[in-house]
Amino acid sequence: MRMGSGKMAEAGPIRSRSSAAADLAGERYPGTHRAEIRMESWPYRGARDLRLVQELCARLWSTSSYWHAGGLAWHRCSHADREAEWPTRLWGEPDRLSAWAWLELPGHLMAQLDEVHPELAAQIVDWFEGTATGPDLLATVPDGYEVLTEALRRAGFREREDAPYSLDMRCAPLERSAVEVPAGYAFRPVTRAEVGRRVGLHRAIWSRLADGAHVTSRVTVERFRQVSRTWPFRQDLDLVAVAPDGSFAASCLAWLDPDTRTAELEPVGTHPKHRGRGLATALCVDALQRLGVAGAEDVTVHPRGDPGYPAPRRIYERAGFKVVNRTRIFERLRDESAG
Ligand SMILES: CC(C)(COP(=O)(O)OP(=O)(O)OC[C@H]1O[C@@H](n2cnc3c(N)ncnc32)[C@H](O)[C@@H]1OP(=O)(O)O)[C@@H](O)C(=O)NCCC(=O)NCCS
Repeated sequence: MRMGSGKMAEAGPIRSRSSAAADLAGERYPGTHRAEIRMESWPYRGARDLRLVQELCARLWSTSSYWHAGGLAWHRCSHADREAEWPTRLWGEPDRLSAWAWLELPGHLMAQLDEVHPELAAQIVDWFEGTATGPDLLATVPDGYEVLTEALRRAGFREREDAPYSLDMRCAPLERSAVEVPAGYAFRPVTRAEVGRRVGLHRAIWSRLADGAHVTSRVTVERFRQVSRTWPFRQDLDLVAVAPDGSFAASCLAWLDPDTRTAELEPVGTHPKHRGRGLATALCVDALQRLGVAGAEDVTVHPRGDPGYPAPRRIYERAGFKVVNRTRIFERLRDESAG
């Protein structure tokens, strides 16, 4: 089933990917044939390349584009000691990207390309196959990425329908106060000086998942400081719920891209001691209001969509988000050949 892009009217006006393609082919390079554009490829080199990736996300933003500058900043910068496990390659001109591919070793690919350059899809898949170290190759592809999907199918990948997948849920910011703060709690932005408590809350949230599973967060004070130096982080959009005893009970980090006026909430969580009181839902609604004041027109979240981890989807539905798209997982075992 294809999740409806028709639902997007509720989530704000969005440029289509084809108009972004028209920009590249026409406005920026009037009279230029596509083949004359100097296309290069290089390994990811840190902050400056992240900014190029974020600019591509912004240029391609649509109901099916899925990737947002904020979530990418969070995932790239918040985890200590992961760079060696995350080979990443970029394609484009030095100051304007056409595609990126991020591989979580041993074999999980995430990628995005501007479909005005369809030939890059095969290059992404070749690089994926040549760089992955495991026997099982998995690719996460948002629905609607036809060019990349086709290249994966040509290389022998097949959709794995039983695999966990994610949703793209969208909501327009709220203009008036609809926040019902659970009794005794207060919502506010966290301050820079509170980074230690902020990270303590994050680590407590991510020590126990909503399904009861125990995990260990890789977020440290140093990594969080790095996150807060990464565009488009804003201190006034890093929100916490403060409990009656003054402790931090829940958090919601909202990322606003001022160029596209789009935002992502990532991550959202409630301390295990404070769950089941409506805090996560109410804090998301609070974030939606603050984002409206800050100029956002469209806000995205990416919870799991399969029944294996239903709680985050539920909080976002309660906060007003609607599903506009989903990811699909494609798989190939390394010893399977194409065709
Ligand atoms: C998911 C999480 C944020 C929920 O926080 P919370 O403050 O307990 O959520 P709320 O009280 O606002 O619950 C909102 C809705 O979600 C449902 N929900 C909450 N936890 C649930 C769970 N474990 N299983 C199923 N539904 C759940 C609630 O029942 C409620 O729906 P309802 O009003 O129809 O009953 C919290 O469990 C958490 O931090 N988990 C670990 C981190 C995480 O998974 N974050 C989300 C992805 S970034």
